[in-house]
Amino acid sequence: VTGATETTATIDAVHRLMPLIFGAVQGQAVRAAAELGLADLLRHGPRSAAQLAAATGTRAASLARLLRLLARLGVVEEQACGSFAVTALGALLGSDHPYTVRHYALMNNSEWILRVESRLQESLRTGSSAFHGVFGSNCYEYLGRHPQDGRAFHESLNELSQQDTLALGQVYDFSACRRLVDVGGGEGHLLEMLLDAHPSMRGVLFDLPEVVANAEPRLRAHVAAGRCELLGGNFLTTIPAGGDLYLLKRVISTSSQADARSLLEGIRAVIPPGGRLLLADPDPRSLYGALFDVLMMVVVGGALQTEEEIRAVLEETGFRCTRSVTTPSTLRLIEAVPE
Ligand SMILES: C[S@@+](CC[C@H](N)C(=O)[O-])C[C@H]1O[C@@H](n2cnc3c(N)ncnc32)[C@H](O)[C@@H]1O
Repeated sequence: VTGATETTATIDAVHRLMPLIFGAVQGQAVRAAAELGLADLLRHGPRSAAQLAAATGTRAASLARLLRLLARLGVVEEQACGSFAVTALGALLGSDHPYTVRHYALMNNSEWILRVESRLQESLRTGSSAFHGVFGSNCYEYLGRHPQDGRAFHESLNELSQQDTLALGQVYDFSACRRLVDVGGGEGHLLEMLLDAHPSMRGVLFDLPEVVANAEPRLRAHVAAGRCELLGGNFLTTIPAGGDLYLLKRVISTSSQADARSLLEGIRAVIPPGGRLLLADPDPRSLYGALFDVLMMVVVGGALQTEEEIRAVLEETGFRCTRSVTTPSTLRLIEAVPE
C-alpha cells in the first residue's frame, strides 16, 4: 500500500505519460489541421466549428472534437463564445506564412513515414535504417519511384528552405562567396534566394537528376543570366569542382552515416585551399532535434551528431571545424575548412 503523496505523484506521472503514448494522434491532429487548411480559414478572425465544417466538407460534431484537441495542443484557442481562433503556433500551418511548416506537417505524418517509423525496434537492434525492409529500396529511391510522395517531400523542404535561408543569412556572411555549390540542394529554393540576395554570386545546384529537373523553372532566369548551373548526379560518386563554398543543408543528417562520411571525403577531394564547407542540420540539443535524430535513425540510418562528433568526423575526412553557430531557425550551422 502506498502513501497519499506517492499516489498523487504516480497519478501525475500517468497523466504526463498518456499524451506521450498518444503522440501519433497529436501528429495526425496537426496533419488534419494542415490538410483542412484551418489556419487559412481562421486568418481573418475566429469561426465556429459549424462554419469551419461547412468550409471544409467535414461533419460539425466531428470537427468540433478535433478543434477541442487542437485547443489543448495550443494550435487554436477556444473563445468564450465557442468559436475558435488561430494561435501563433497554429498560424505556422498557414499556407502563406513566411515560416510555414504546413507541408512539413503533412509529409512527416504521411503513411510512408509512419510505416517506417513503426519499425524503430528493428533499427535499435541493427543500427541501420528500417526503410529497405519496408519498401525494398532506400528513401530517396522510393521518393523517385513514388512521384506523389516525392512531390510532398520536396514541397516540405522548399517550404523549410524559406525559413532556413532567412536564418542562415542572419548568422553567416555569404557576400564574399564567388561560387556556391549546394550539394543535395533539392529544388533550388535556397540557391534562388541567395542568388537573388547576392548579385555577384554564382551557384551550382547539385542533386539527383529527377530532383534537379524540377528546379529548372525556379532557377531559369539565373541560368539564362549565366549565374547558375543545374547538375544532376549522385553525390556519392561525383562532386562538382570549382566552388569556393560547399553547402550541405539538411543532407548530412538525412544520409546514412556511411554516406555522410563519403560525401565529406568527396567534397574534400575537390574543395580548393581557402574554400569553405557549411553543414546545416537541426540542432541536436532541441526537443525537435532529438525527435528528428531518432526519426533519421529509422528512415535513412542517419544521425544528428553532437558538436564533438561532427568535429571528429570532419577531422577524419580532412577538414577543420572553424565555428559552430546557432541560427534563429531550427538549424545549427557548422563551418569547416580543408586542412
Ligand atoms: C533532406 S533533403 C535536403 C534538400 C535541401 N538541401 C534542403 O535543405 O531543402 C536531401 C537531398 O539530398 C538529395 N540526395 C539524396 N541522395 C542523393 C544522392 N545520392 N546524390 C545526390 N543527391 C542526393 C535528395 O534528393 C534531397 O534533395
